[in-house]
Amino acid sequence: MSDSLRGRSGIVTGAGSGLGRATALQFASIGARVVVADVNVEAGEAVVAEIASAGGSAVFIATDVTDPAACEALVGACIDTFGTLDFAVNNAGTTGTPGSVVDYPIDAWRATMAVNLDGVFFAMRAELPSMVTAGKGAIVNVASGAGLVGFAGLPAYVASKHGVVGLTKSAALECAARGVRINCVCPGSVRTPMLEGFMGGDERMERAMTAGVPMGRLGTPSEIAEAIVWLCSDAASYMVGHALVCDGGATVQ
Ligand SMILES: NC(=O)c1ccc[n+]([C@@H]2O[C@H](COP(=O)([O-])OP(=O)(O)OC[C@H]3O[C@@H](n4cnc5c(N)ncnc54)[C@H](O)[C@@H]3O)[C@@H](O)[C@H]2O)c1
Repeated sequence: MSDSLRGRSGIVTGAGSGLGRATALQFASIGARVVVADVNVEAGEAVVAEIASAGGSAVFIATDVTDPAACEALVGACIDTFGTLDFAVNNAGTTGTPGSVVDYPIDAWRATMAVNLDGVFFAMRAELPSMVTAGKGAIVNVASGAGLVGFAGLPAYVASKHGVVGLTKSAALECAARGVRINCVCPGSVRTPMLEGFMGGDERMERAMTAGVPMGRLGTPSEIAEAIVWLCSDAASYMVGHALVCDGGATVQ
């Protein structure tokens, strides 16, 4: 990992838990200044306190990414606090409700799309103007293995994550010549509060999920954070529009 992120500043959405928390901690540990954004105030403030106690620099901004105005305010807060928006990780997401397409509740569909796809769109829409004006910046959207292949029983999640991959590629092409790199990561099954909630303490489900991973284990949040932070760094200076799979081999089978 290059030292290029030291002193740079940026945003991580959904940074109060799981992958977002691990990513915020990783940025701070290498000297980047982080805006921790989450709809969960207590969780977000706890991550900021954790960063501060380790000697890092972070602020918490309560943000619901389903609200375009909140995303605009988040970017403004980063620039007001740290002076620049150099990187952004659009990570906030939800698994949504399991169900089949034929009788999937309309409200559940809209709620999942609102966070996972609209939220990434609203965030990038807010983040890009200052990056394009500066002629530099890096954005990483958090998609999923479910953005590349289908999973029966999670139609809204799978559709939203395929949307994130497509949106990433489209925005990346628009911005490639303007100095702003946009990529996404596609994590496999990673042990976070979201995944623990999805598995619901069912050991058979965990065994089945692990059995589908050639490496024979779930991922850890820090393994995904490493990939995200690398994509935001100058070490990834020729990476544009890429969907980086971090899944222990699950989707190459
Ligand atoms: N854990 C996995 O196995 C896995 C696999 C692939 C992709 N992902 C993706 O990684 C991302 C993070 O997932 P995680 O496992 O860390 O989940 P998590 O539930 O542990 O953390 C998600 C965070 O997002 C926040 N959030 C939810 N809705 C929000 C909103 N509207 N505005 C702002 N913040 C909001 C939550 O409060 C929470 O702090 C998600 O996009 C998820 O789809 C996770």
